[in-house]
Amino acid sequence: MIRLKRKDKKSNRSATSASIVTPEERPKMRAAGALAAEILDKVGPLIEPGVTTAQIDQLVHELTEAAGATSAPYGYKGFPAHCCTSLNDVVCHGIPDEKRVLKEGDIINLDVTPILDGYYGDTSRTFPVGEVSPLARELVGVTYEALWKGIAAVRPGGRVGDIGHAIQSFVEPRGFSVVRQFTGHGIATAFHTKPEVLHYGKPDTGDLLQPGTCFTIEPMINIGEWRCQILDDGWTAVTVDGKLSAQFEHTLVVTESGVEIFTLGKDERNPLCD
Ligand code: MF3
Ligand code: CO
Ligand code: CO
Repeated sequence: MIRLKRKDKKSNRSATSASIVTPEERPKMRAAGALAAEILDKVGPLIEPGVTTAQIDQLVHELTEAAGATSAPYGYKGFPAHCCTSLNDVVCHGIPDEKRVLKEGDIINLDVTPILDGYYGDTSRTFPVGEVSPLARELVGVTYEALWKGIAAVRPGGRVGDIGHAIQSFVEPRGFSVVRQFTGHGIATAFHTKPEVLHYGKPDTGDLLQPGTCFTIEPMINIGEWRCQILDDGWTAVTVDGKLSAQFEHTLVVTESGVEIFTLGKDERNPLCD
């Protein structure tokens, strides 16, 4: 996800153009997204007490290379690893670490972004480590459902504010909060482009969703307050109150009739369409 920038009212020169792909490019987004999902499908079952986040990173690295891809996070603005491993009160951008050993009751978000044939697939899931508390389980469930509420709000001719509104109005009545400093983002042949996809907001506001627009939805949901702070490593974002945070992310494209999700897991189907 990207850090929400303050809008410069006079000029918006830092903004790049939105990631709009042609129908001919979609198979490449499909392949990159499928690889990203496959990496999570393979690494997820290995997440258990005793494993270090550095071991997870090593696996992601190996699976990415074996597929002829590279990992976008590695070296991105100096990021030192192949994926983000965000545990418990870490909201996002946790750095894999050989000293960080998973323990029963943790929740961990694993965020991967392989680049395959020049195209990016960006997806993350939050995994429970062994048995977790009922509250942690509820947080993870609500966050997953919030992602799908956001996806369900995507339609050609709609606006990004529809997505944020759908997420916020689902999450807040359940007593959780929506992180505001980080957003979803356009993606295709670059990691983070326009549109900026806030996970809160008002319907019918923000950028227009045109067919071909590729972007991520990646709500970060907290048990306590939404505010985060960045640790001294310059990356790790943690909740200010030390309470748990969860996240799920998919990469998708607006189609002529709705939406296509590029990063569906092998056992995953749209829960809104059954
Ligand atoms: N994958 C993250 C996202 O969803 C970005 C990670 S950037 C990194 O946008 F440098 F921290 F890896
Ligand atoms: Co992302
Ligand atoms: Co990501």
